[in-house]
Amino acid sequence: MGKEEKTANRGQWASTQGFIWAAAGSAVGLGTIWKFPGKAYEGGGGAYCLVYILVILLLGAIAMLGEFAVGRHSQRNCVAAFHQLKKGWGWVGLLGVLSSLIVMFYYIEVGGWVIRYILAYIMEPSRVFADPNAYFADLVGGDGAFPWDGAVLYPLIFTVATALILSGGISGGIEKFNKLVMPLLLVVMAVLVFATLALPGAMDGIRFLIKVDWSTINFGTILSALGQCFFSLSLGMSVMVTYGSYLSRQENLVQNVWVICLIDTVVAFLSGFIIIPAVFATPNTAMGGGGSFTFTALSGVFSLMPGGIYVGLLFYLLLLFAALTSSVSLVEAIVSYLTEEWGLGRRTAIWSMSTLIFFVGMAYTVSYSGENAGTPLYLLWFDRRGFYPVTAAAFIELLADRLMIPLAALASCLFVGWVWGTDQARLEIEQNGHFPFRWGKLWAFLIRYLAPTAIGMILLCGLWFGFSLS
Ligand code: PHE
Repeated sequence: MGKEEKTANRGQWASTQGFIWAAAGSAVGLGTIWKFPGKAYEGGGGAYCLVYILVILLLGAIAMLGEFAVGRHSQRNCVAAFHQLKKGWGWVGLLGVLSSLIVMFYYIEVGGWVIRYILAYIMEPSRVFADPNAYFADLVGGDGAFPWDGAVLYPLIFTVATALILSGGISGGIEKFNKLVMPLLLVVMAVLVFATLALPGAMDGIRFLIKVDWSTINFGTILSALGQCFFSLSLGMSVMVTYGSYLSRQENLVQNVWVICLIDTVVAFLSGFIIIPAVFATPNTAMGGGGSFTFTALSGVFSLMPGGIYVGLLFYLLLLFAALTSSVSLVEAIVSYLTEEWGLGRRTAIWSMSTLIFFVGMAYTVSYSGENAGTPLYLLWFDRRGFYPVTAAAFIELLADRLMIPLAALASCLFVGWVWGTDQARLEIEQNGHFPFRWGKLWAFLIRYLAPTAIGMILLCGLWFGFSLS
């Protein structure tokens, strides 16, 4: 099949607004909403937030523009896109596809747990509130029993929901869904901010978040902000290349990048303004990050809050919206590759990938319960101290956070900066002077030098020194 035929029946975004919501929907995800507050807390509050903004401006937005340019210029799936711009470089896109697949292995598990919590807050909030730790342990097999609900039933529902949205196509499925859900997500966030700010004691949390104390900033906090920025903006996983490839040449890429980064950062900060004050206002509760905090400690916080059932319900709904709009983008990157390069039908690609993700993803939750049952599912990981066993859950996260995502992000920045070249990329961005790009030179400098150095540092510190980014 010729190139023309291959690209002829590709989908396209129906409107600029639809594209912005879809890309913002990909960016705003579990990482943005639950990881950012924990990291901001560990990083000391205000100073971390400022560093984060700086990292978004100097690196995140820069890399995102590069990914959109590659995608839009080629109008192809991410592997073909890189290959088309420079023969033999398709592997950069393939790294992205593989990263997306690995991230999906845990995304569907946690997405499934979120669905379980929405139902729990509707049907049996008193059971959750009676002992939040026990409730969560029950879901993920804390007693050592096989976690049918946490590993099978709910992740299956989440996976099927993602597949159904994708089945609608680019503008009829992904775009429609994001246009509906993303504005709703922002409204729910606003309601939640008001609900937590009204709590007595919440001001301490606010003060913490806006107090700038530079002594909390060190190499580790900067590295953590870098990792967070890349994950939160969906960079390095070919997702933005893929979404950019459905974009018409009449779009102003630079402007779109600013809006998407702004939405993602505002959501991350709002999430901080919801979670941190709520935790500060609740006696005997400590801030934390990661999955179990979101389900255990936060449920404890909701249990002590007036109207906590409704606040909690809204919060998990918000997480579900965020998770679905991101998972859809991750699978789309894989599906567009399979349909265009392997000639699979869209349906076949969606459902076969969903099946694969569902079965492998199960290992994530099962390894939790296995540990508790004394039958851990160990795999080997490594750093400068050599190889050591980690649970399958930890392995999946390490593989994504420390190896695949930074590697794919590094490769794609180097590609834009040095292989395809910033001059070519700028031509694509400017469209014959249609969209003047005043910061073009600065952008070229940042993507050629600063971005690869920063991402290279993440890779080295993570892989070699075992530095934890999440
Ligand atoms: N940005 C999403 C989040 O914050 C995760 C994601 C990464 C989604 C990469 C798509 C691609 O959770």
